[in-house]
Amino acid sequence: MEIVFVVAIAENGVIGAGNAMPWRLKSDLARFKALTIGKPVIMGRKTFESLPGRRPLSNRTNIVVTRDAAYRAAGAVVATSFADAEAVALGDALRRSAAEIAVIGGAEIFRQWLDRADRLEITEVHARPDGDTHFTIDKAQWDEVARVRHPAGPEDSTDFSYVTYRRRPSH
Ligand SMILES: NC(=O)c1ccc[n+]([C@@H]2O[C@H](COP(=O)([O-])OP(=O)(O)OC[C@H]3O[C@@H](n4cnc5c(N)ncnc54)[C@H](OP(=O)(O)O)[C@@H]3O)[C@@H](O)[C@H]2O)c1
Repeated sequence: MEIVFVVAIAENGVIGAGNAMPWRLKSDLARFKALTIGKPVIMGRKTFESLPGRRPLSNRTNIVVTRDAAYRAAGAVVATSFADAEAVALGDALRRSAAEIAVIGGAEIFRQWLDRADRLEITEVHARPDGDTHFTIDKAQWDEVARVRHPAGPEDSTDFSYVTYRRRPSH
């Protein structure tokens, strides 16, 4: 089972501001959908609450991680620990015959899962916005296997690049 991060990161490491993303990238939404559809997606409670209308992402099993055992999220599965989220995601992926579990943020969740990730699907956002949530990776542990730069489309606030990293094999 591959653990895949799907994340958009600005050049200064910013991934969020005020529980939202400080850019508009319509093009990236399509890629996000393509990378996650039909898979279990794991997200922190704050990221879930940042989704438009707090509605779960369609055609994906939304696993929302919180320490609040009483938390309820319509249309999503609530997990109360890392291990709980992992077990739910694994069971769901096997039922769906999905080969991947997508970890979709935010920073707290990415940090906890980073050691377990096999592949990173990063949208490099070519901007340096102000923000309150940061995430960076140590490139020494990762091999870049694909990179495509795109100019901003009509509904994008900035240029961006799609970059794929695979974990560098340890010796
Ligand atoms: N650029 C991107 O690709 C991207 C992707 C996703 C999110 N974001 C941005 O990132 C920001 C949110 O990130 P964040 O780091 O503040 O929050 P987050 O990771 O989305 O959620 C943090 C919450 O997850 C729960 N949690 C974390 N670890 C847990 C564990 N081991 N067991 C149980 N619950 C656990 C806690 O919920 P409780 O407090 O309920 O206990 C914690 O407060 C927003 O600005 C969002 O827009 C950006």
